[in-house]
Amino acid sequence: EKDGYAHFMLKEIHEQPRAIKDTLSGRIAAGDSGVTLKEINIPEEQLREMNKIFITACGTAYHAGLVGKHIIESLARIPVEVDIASEFRYRNPLLDRNSLVIVVSQSGETADTLAALREAKRKGARVLAVTNVVDSSVAREADDVLYTWAGPEIAVASTKAYTTQLVCMYLIGLYLAQQRGALGPGETAEIVAELRKLPGKVSAVLENGSDIENFVRQYSNCGSVFYIGRGLDHAVAMEGSLKLKEISYIHAEAYAAGELKHGTLALIEKDVPVIALATQADLFEKMLSNIKEVKARDAVVVAVAMRGLEEVAKEADQVMYIPRTHQVLAPVLAVIPLQLLAYHMAVARNCDVDQPRNLAKSVTVE
Ligand code: M6R
Repeated sequence: EKDGYAHFMLKEIHEQPRAIKDTLSGRIAAGDSGVTLKEINIPEEQLREMNKIFITACGTAYHAGLVGKHIIESLARIPVEVDIASEFRYRNPLLDRNSLVIVVSQSGETADTLAALREAKRKGARVLAVTNVVDSSVAREADDVLYTWAGPEIAVASTKAYTTQLVCMYLIGLYLAQQRGALGPGETAEIVAELRKLPGKVSAVLENGSDIENFVRQYSNCGSVFYIGRGLDHAVAMEGSLKLKEISYIHAEAYAAGELKHGTLALIEKDVPVIALATQADLFEKMLSNIKEVKARDAVVVAVAMRGLEEVAKEADQVMYIPRTHQVLAPVLAVIPLQLLAYHMAVARNCDVDQPRNLAKSVTVE
């Protein structure tokens, strides 16, 4: 059932091109003119009046929400707040019928996420669920459901659920932009055309795994790894760091690169691995200076950058390139090397990759 892969996690990492294709299937309009989401039935008046979106979830799904915030705000120009579900449900959020609450959950059974959904409904908000399990509790209780078509995810560490959740965030962002006339036809078409190319580009990233194995051979005994990035790259850094912690048991932290100077830089010393995400053209120069900053403390820098931003090679010790795409879509490609890095670290350290200690696939208790 692992299709010849050593672990479910590796199989699921490699299933991502297919999973993304299925999640897009039937949802992109012909001629790339926009998206069609038949499953979302928010009344027109409510769409017009909607003035705030909340995204709430746990763990990896929360990290997908962090990317979702950037996407929806930049495409649809509606303010978005993202909350960890176990915080959201107890903080008495300011919700009303002009709020849309998006809950994200692979299993659709996470106790805190389900409780957050119920709290949102109690306060009169419209709830849209993004989930991978048909007829799960979250799917049954939400007003609208947008399924990720990742297929069953067995490994505790979430991979294909995350990338398909990201795809749903693009679909929702484009959908809302379309309904509210927030995005011009040119940019819509460009993003939709790039979305279509994502499965092929993910396959290309998967074929370039050898650099990662080299790095792992050298650093599998390190005590700590730092992940840095700005904007969307910061959100991806958080996901990369969680992946490494949960399956390889190496201490890892993610920082907004601009925050380094405000404390964390004190921890950067000789040979500490720093994974620097630099996929965003707008923020590229700023990231280069952060890379120089940690290099000056003799850190080992592995950069993840987009083709076309090759200047990073002058500063970093190693660069993992992702194919060129619209910068808003970069997270889907940038997370792949981070998933593989966590996987190979865990294997090198003889950890139980699919069943990490102390964790369960579905957290149905609080
Ligand atoms: O099923 P859910 O998406 O609601 O699960 C949420 C988290 O428990 C889950 O993403 C967890 O963080 C993963 N083990 C991360 O890889």
